[in-house]
Amino acid sequence: MFYLRRTIVKCCSFILLLIFSQNVIALQKNNTTLDAGAIASPDYYGALAAQQILQKGGNAVDAAVATAFALAVTYPEAGNIGGGGFMTLLMDGKPYFIDYREVAPALASRDMYLDTNKEVIDNLSLYSYKAPGVPGTVAGMWSVHQRFGRLPWQQVLQPAIEFANDGFYVESQLAQRYQEVLGKAPNNSYFEKYFSGLQTGKLFKQPELANILTLIAKQGMDGFYKGETAKLIASQMAENGGLITEADLANYQAKWRKPLIANWQGMQIITAPPPSSGGVGLIQLLTMKNILADEFKNIEVNSPKYIHLLAEIEKRVFADRANYMGDPDFISVPVTKLIDHAYLLERANQVNPTAISNTDEIQPGLSDNKEKLQTTHFSVVDKWGNAVSNTYTLNGWFGSAIVIKGTGIILNNEMDDFSSKPGIANQFGVVGNDANAIEANKRPLSSMTPTIITKDNQVLLVIGTPGGSRIFTSIFQVITNVFDNQMSLSEAVFAPRYHHQLLPKDQIFIERFQNRVSKQFKQTLEDMGYNFYQQDFSGDIQAIQILDNQPNAVSDIRGRGRSMLTN
Ligand code: GLY
Repeated sequence: MFYLRRTIVKCCSFILLLIFSQNVIALQKNNTTLDAGAIASPDYYGALAAQQILQKGGNAVDAAVATAFALAVTYPEAGNIGGGGFMTLLMDGKPYFIDYREVAPALASRDMYLDTNKEVIDNLSLYSYKAPGVPGTVAGMWSVHQRFGRLPWQQVLQPAIEFANDGFYVESQLAQRYQEVLGKAPNNSYFEKYFSGLQTGKLFKQPELANILTLIAKQGMDGFYKGETAKLIASQMAENGGLITEADLANYQAKWRKPLIANWQGMQIITAPPPSSGGVGLIQLLTMKNILADEFKNIEVNSPKYIHLLAEIEKRVFADRANYMGDPDFISVPVTKLIDHAYLLERANQVNPTAISNTDEIQPGLSDNKEKLQTTHFSVVDKWGNAVSNTYTLNGWFGSAIVIKGTGIILNNEMDDFSSKPGIANQFGVVGNDANAIEANKRPLSSMTPTIITKDNQVLLVIGTPGGSRIFTSIFQVITNVFDNQMSLSEAVFAPRYHHQLLPKDQIFIERFQNRVSKQFKQTLEDMGYNFYQQDFSGDIQAIQILDNQPNAVSDIRGRGRSMLTN
């Protein structure tokens, strides 16, 4: 009996040991170290901030928070503390997503941008005190750091405070973007006075912003959402007919959401759920391209036939986007159905490989082409194999072009991402949708798609870009360039990108700067019935690929980005 009991105890101990060691192995597997940390940032200073923090023993979250605050200083046209965004994370092999998108102020209402004839009032949702949503960036960075940060919060904000105090050198691209917005700022916006020093090659200092960042460093998110800062924002709003109140700021909450995850070619795509439309769009694109693999076989990448197939897929995705997407806290978004394989098989089978399928027969493309292209993105990995993919925005360059006096905070114009006039064609000839109508405390629909690709919980690719509705079609093309077309990451990122969004009808967006589109290429597509819209460029990809534990970080040639590695 004694022996029997001892044998049972031994067996149980052995089984427990086995389970425990399996867990340890699994845990270790999830924590494969990399040869270096890395950052791909839209500017040099953002990259420097991350590098400094990684070198001091910070993890990917510390570095990401440092970069986010640094870009609020040195990339003021899109980096921000007065806007919002999304962050996708892989920490200890587990995926997370935080939504720190702006919300409509409590006083916002469905028809707030319409006149008495129910017509949209020009620029009210773009360059007026009614344009900003309640900012989410500081709450997002605070929440993510509280949960995963390794270094003290104050230390992580230090690079940004130094850039604001000591100044940074202005690149021509930034000076040019400032000039573009200059005439658009609303009255009493303080914009011109604050940014008049943005001249190419000049050192630009921001002592007011340094003070606010120091307050946030000391008080955490309360340094932004409560007390002196909140009072300054709310009083400048009230004086100029704006809607954001101290209560709106005090009530703001970033939200942890379940990231959208899909299997693709034996890998996991971890990406943004609603209120982004980007994650659903990206998964639909990748899945349909896979289903149509035979059609893509033996055709040259970016040849007319290739672009036609992409266009056929993309227009179906945009039809769904416009019909079904909005803030999941306010409407029910059928995400599972939209990325269901059987559904996408049916959609992909409707693709006509040789001619443009009748656009009118595809569910009405209610795509709202108003979304601004001027967002920004950065990607980070640390030596422990953690990854952060972060896209955040003021919407347009410099958002609403409103600077809060005494703070250096630029407020977004994210309210323009709502449908100002649901159900009726807007000034751009496209139609908005009820799912994205304005409501108090609602988040406007976004396309931001910060994405991480993993295999066996190990990071393979961290990727994202600005570009409004071009965001997920750009990411899609880079991912397929890497994994389907066997390009190096630089080749994949630098390759030309094309875009089709159902409406305007049969229109393909091409990049002017590429200059690589031959007459014959255009002619072949024009003969099929396509027409072209030239844009300066499509996106500003910041991506990191891991190959044999070695990160390779690439910043797009389309922007002023910098990539750095750190041991
Ligand atoms: N404002 C651009 C976006 O959210 O997609």
